[in-house]
Amino acid sequence: MAKEKTIYTCNDCGGTTPRWLGKCPHCGAWNTLIESLAESAAPAKNRYAALAKSSPVTTLAEIEARDVARQPTGLNELDRVLGGGVVEGGVVLIGGDPGIGKSTLLLQALDALQRAGQSTLYVTGEESGAQVALRSRRLGLDGSQVQVLAEIQLEKILATLEATRPAIAVIDSIQTVYSDQLSSAPGSVAQVRECAAHLTRAAKASGTAVVLVGHVTKEGALAGPRVLEHMVDTVLYFEGDTHSSFRLVRAIKNRFGAVNEIGVFAMTERGLKGVSNPSAIFLSQHAEPVPGSCVLVTLEGTRPLLVEIQALVDSGGPSPRRLSVGLERDRLAMLLAVLHRHAGVACMDQDVFVNAVGGVRISEPAADLAAMLAITSSLRGKPLPRGFIAFGEVGLAGEVRPAPRGQERLKEAAKLGFSVAVVPKANAPKKQDKAFEGLEIHAVERIEEAMELARSLG
Ligand code: TYD
Ligand code: MG
Repeated sequence: MAKEKTIYTCNDCGGTTPRWLGKCPHCGAWNTLIESLAESAAPAKNRYAALAKSSPVTTLAEIEARDVARQPTGLNELDRVLGGGVVEGGVVLIGGDPGIGKSTLLLQALDALQRAGQSTLYVTGEESGAQVALRSRRLGLDGSQVQVLAEIQLEKILATLEATRPAIAVIDSIQTVYSDQLSSAPGSVAQVRECAAHLTRAAKASGTAVVLVGHVTKEGALAGPRVLEHMVDTVLYFEGDTHSSFRLVRAIKNRFGAVNEIGVFAMTERGLKGVSNPSAIFLSQHAEPVPGSCVLVTLEGTRPLLVEIQALVDSGGPSPRRLSVGLERDRLAMLLAVLHRHAGVACMDQDVFVNAVGGVRISEPAADLAAMLAITSSLRGKPLPRGFIAFGEVGLAGEVRPAPRGQERLKEAAKLGFSVAVVPKANAPKKQDKAFEGLEIHAVERIEEAMELARSLG
């Protein structure tokens, strides 16, 4: 087949050039030109030809609004993040570090769907069919009827999808797929984008639900193309420490359900098992309270989760380091400034390390108070009291702002036997409730108040 013409398009301004250049001739931005297929002028090849025949427009009121049909995968925690199950013609992008369990989870899901009577296809570009078969035996999926295709060429994959019309197809991974039409290497932004676009179109046209597996860059972004996130309906993200057994799957975009819902799994020797009551799995077990540790009650999706925030403050050199794992580093710098300015706690000449235990990523600002309490506890070398929890957002003016659904968080902490809580004033319960029994709740309005309280309690 003759190579189709390719052009280079600027990511910033959309300008095109026939050759690759370091600098976009249109807007002057550096390193923004990406290879893509030139739109063919011939009508037969026009990729939008099918759309030209679309039906007349209707008003919203005339359209029968029925809920999308979902097929539950049978893995409850996965269904939870998907918003109930896979949607016909829906495209899901699932990302995560190597070895975190993407292939394992999807193979389990496909097998469950196949056993529920759906036709499934697993396209593997990273492993051979034999390796996938070996994995399925290890997972205990004996006699699995999941169809496997070991292929990385886009055109062949599309033809197979067209011929077999499965209800759901997994492409593991999108970075290994390449199209003949582009000269750039598999895994390059241009290839990934073009292949994902074709697969998305195929999904919409045929009604096959497509799951794309994507690798994650060192910075934690879904590799290369953020643009993939715009193309697909749902973006799921694996989190967790590959050394611990717990894995979180988080929805960061979902056209068919709620975002920020998380699914929790434990990796066992027989694959991933859902954890339906995960609130206490991220607590490390200290026999005695230790300095620099504060338990945070965070709310992920619909379930509260208790996570230990650890801090280590240690004398640093002339340019002290601020490092955080699981929390935003910029936020940490801000919290240190607030601590200094409003609570008189100076860490200027100290290295500060903060870690959310278990590899959880916490993006909500309600983690502020717990992080600050952990930092001051480490700085003073004094542990917080036994059974201590905290949550609340801290503003630049030193005010402690309420966290969403504070009462639910407090209830979960009380249920798990925690005994002391420092929370924003607006989150403190107004009236006595049996659910908070055993939990001594201290309401604070300002960060200096919280620090004073921690000092008197500890
Ligand atoms: P995998 O699904 O291959 O990860 P990814 O596709 O995201 O790269 O996961 C592989 C890891 O999971 C590997 O380190 C071994 C572990 N594992 C188990 O602990 N139990 C199992 O049953 C399986 C299949 C894998
Ligand atoms: Mg894999």
